[in-house]
Amino acid sequence: MQIPRRKTPFASSPEVFAMKSRKNNNLPIFVVVFSIFLFGIFMYNEDVKSIAEFPFSSSPKAQELREEQETKQSSPVSKQSNPVSEQSEIQNRASLSTTSRTQLEETQLENSVSEEIQEPVELKTIMEEKDEDQDKKLELSEEDDMEEIELPPEDCDLFNGDWIFDPVTHPLYKEDECEFLTAQVTCMRNGRKDSLYQHWRWQPRDCNLPKFNARLLLEKLRNKRLMFVGDSLNRNQWESMICFAQSIIPPGRKTLVKNGSLSVFRIEDYNATVEFYWAPFLVESNSDDPNMHSIQNRIIMPKSIKKHGENWKGVDYLIFNTYIWWMNTFKMKVLRGSFDQGATEYDEIDRPLAYRKVLRTWAKWVDRNIDPNRTTVFFSSMSPLHIKSLDWDNPDGIKCALETTPILNRTTPLEVGTDRRLYVISSNITKSMTVPVYFVDITSLSEFRKDAHTSVHTIRQGKMLTPEQQADPETYADCIHWCLPGLPDTWNEFLYSRIISRS
Ligand SMILES: *[C@@H]1O[C@H](CO)[C@@H](O)[C@H](O)[C@H]1NC(C)=O
Ligand SMILES: *[C@@H]1O[C@H](CO)[C@@H](O)[C@H](O)[C@H]1NC(C)=O
Ligand SMILES: *[C@@H]1O[C@H](CO)[C@@H](O)[C@H](O)[C@H]1NC(C)=O
Ligand SMILES: *[C@@H]1O[C@H](CO)[C@@H](O)[C@H](O)[C@H]1NC(C)=O
Ligand SMILES: *[C@@H]1O[C@H](CO)[C@@H](O)[C@H](O)[C@H]1NC(C)=O
Repeated sequence: MQIPRRKTPFASSPEVFAMKSRKNNNLPIFVVVFSIFLFGIFMYNEDVKSIAEFPFSSSPKAQELREEQETKQSSPVSKQSNPVSEQSEIQNRASLSTTSRTQLEETQLENSVSEEIQEPVELKTIMEEKDEDQDKKLELSEEDDMEEIELPPEDCDLFNGDWIFDPVTHPLYKEDECEFLTAQVTCMRNGRKDSLYQHWRWQPRDCNLPKFNARLLLEKLRNKRLMFVGDSLNRNQWESMICFAQSIIPPGRKTLVKNGSLSVFRIEDYNATVEFYWAPFLVESNSDDPNMHSIQNRIIMPKSIKKHGENWKGVDYLIFNTYIWWMNTFKMKVLRGSFDQGATEYDEIDRPLAYRKVLRTWAKWVDRNIDPNRTTVFFSSMSPLHIKSLDWDNPDGIKCALETTPILNRTTPLEVGTDRRLYVISSNITKSMTVPVYFVDITSLSEFRKDAHTSVHTIRQGKMLTPEQQADPETYADCIHWCLPGLPDTWNEFLYSRIISRS
């Protein structure tokens, strides 16, 4: 029962869900929350999580099998048991993984979304002392590189174009010159051998992207706040934006501070910030904890956005996204009531339907709370995955792990399993709002970049993959996130173009 043209695991096969738990078992939600609380208190470290998470994504054989048989999966066994301690919770979650998680797409995502378990340790909090000598340098360099920069015409479609190999202009910064990159994205440092992926430049068909100039960007950001809001892909892009911005700022004049869901990179001399706010569904969900959010049983509150929204008010540039967290299951669990009031009952709603509800809530919030005279709003379309090398006709590939060049053959349409239904919804809703929203249409151009993922050169649950794990990409390759420098730099070139064109 596969939908034509969607050959990835995300192609829906409704019978898979036939037996999935309805809102039958409310206890586990509470138990998960409670256990996480216990984890947090007693053993807040990655080891415990590793134990808990490991079984979900460590059966390569089974996974391979599923990949072959994705269309005729057996129905998942519904979950049960009510653990009373964090110990039994571990067991519970482990056994859950071997019994009920028969869906490839869940396993695939688990592999990668396990990276969502954030790395409070990895995310470097750099609080450098101020160095008074540095002030002069800044003044000196004010005038030196304000060259003329050609802007693309307003009506040029920047997202229609080609990837051009251009080692002269790209990458825009060097991996080891940006101290703020986390170990999740520093692929070369993590052992990646080929570096060609850093040298591709996006060339729009009908115009040019403006030459990147960090000083110009910072002038535009002076006394302003720029904030990415969303999931780890937006965080990926946020890290890239930090590297863009920080290159001309001397040490001691920039800080990165993380506080709960909000991470703030501050550039003192410009009184500018580049921020990231964790909200993987934009609306409230049980995955909102910035550190411990890799929750299997994801539940959203599609009408609740105020609490998050309070943190977005008064920001000058807002870049939203939400996609990857929707891809775990075909149906979305929607809470009846509020977490605050202890609600645990939920309904399961088809993914596109739930996505539309959420984006409507988001759109309404933006229209009511954003002053378009002050704030520029962006919405990034979905960042694609590359988990099946047959999608690009490479029978010898292993997910994205062996890919070193973009897909350049454009004779046949490319289909890597992106849920385009969500694309249509977000594209449509962003067009129909009172506040103008710039739709950053990164999906198709990113689909060509099978070479640009972090693959096995990354961390997992806060730890660098071991050589053994790196040797097993079938299990461990992350084909969701992207190396930096790399593809998200291009996404930021679109933002840059817009930011310097306006104002
Ligand atoms: C610094 O930036 C903030 C917003 O980012 C702004 O509210 C404040 O007025 C700025 N300070 C100065 C001295 O301009
Ligand atoms: C962290 O954020 C909370 C509010 O979200 C604030 O009350 C607190 O002062 C912040 N802590 C630091 C160290 O900035
Ligand atoms: C934005 O500015 C224009 C012209 O300056 C003004 O007419 C309009 O009322 C402003 N809109 C808002 C929402 O403040
Ligand atoms: C491009 O891909 C198509 C379909 O996979 C194939 O038939 C064709 O030979 C390829 N062209 C080149 C130049 O590789
Ligand atoms: C797009 O939105 C409009 C109204 O906002 C609606 O009439 C139309 O059916 C939508 N199209 C799609 C493809 O969702």
